[in-house]
Amino acid sequence: MKKGEMLYEGKAKKVFKTDEADTYIIEYKDDATAFNAKKKGTIKGKGVVNNKMSAIIFELLKEKGIPTHFIGLLSDSQQAVKAVEIIPMEVVIRNVAAGSFSKRLGVEEGTILNTAVFELYYKNDAYDDPLINDYHATALGFATAAEIESIKKLAFQINDVLVEFFKQHGMRLIDFKIEFGRFHDEVILADEISPDTCRLWEIGTERKMDKDRFRRDLGNVEETYQEVLAKIETN
Ligand code: TMP
Repeated sequence: MKKGEMLYEGKAKKVFKTDEADTYIIEYKDDATAFNAKKKGTIKGKGVVNNKMSAIIFELLKEKGIPTHFIGLLSDSQQAVKAVEIIPMEVVIRNVAAGSFSKRLGVEEGTILNTAVFELYYKNDAYDDPLINDYHATALGFATAAEIESIKKLAFQINDVLVEFFKQHGMRLIDFKIEFGRFHDEVILADEISPDTCRLWEIGTERKMDKDRFRRDLGNVEETYQEVLAKIETN
């Protein structure tokens, strides 16, 4: 497979076409942004961590029967994926109150939620990725009702797998964001799952082990990304 022209450059990744119509290459960058790119920086080694961590997690999800875009690692910072059309929604699942949920609803960070919460956001930086519901999504043509049902079902299944996986590796999965894409009429998991897109708290100490270290200037950002990868790479 040969790398072709760049299709898209996002805040944390570049996407390239290849000589195979059904395959893209994703290159993970060290660039970091927060608050819809109002805060910018670099996290050295982040691209490699996110590439490898996404690969491990997407392989695990595949074993559990979740359809994903992941094909295989190509190098430390690149992976081959199925050429999906991204659905312009960020899907968030929350197990514990934190971040924008705590702020918007006045719920203390760390409060365990009675049930996992499913949220949709419209991916649009110019409007600060606004919270939407399934009616907005269908009314505006982002996805069909059937696609949203399948996204919801997959998102809760993914949550079950990931909560258990991170627990086995000493971390609590507080919340996470995922994205889906269309590939030959099927909705499959796309994008990445990494410390950029999850909140992970170390079991026992409650230490934050994710991008909140960058967002909130908590220090040891690079070291913590490496630590998360090292934890999940052990058996
Ligand atoms: P939030 O509490 O800021 O809404 O974030 C919820 C989860 O989604 C958290 O794990 C971080 C992740 N997230 C992203 O991956 N990208 C984003 O742009 C935002 C705002 C959150």
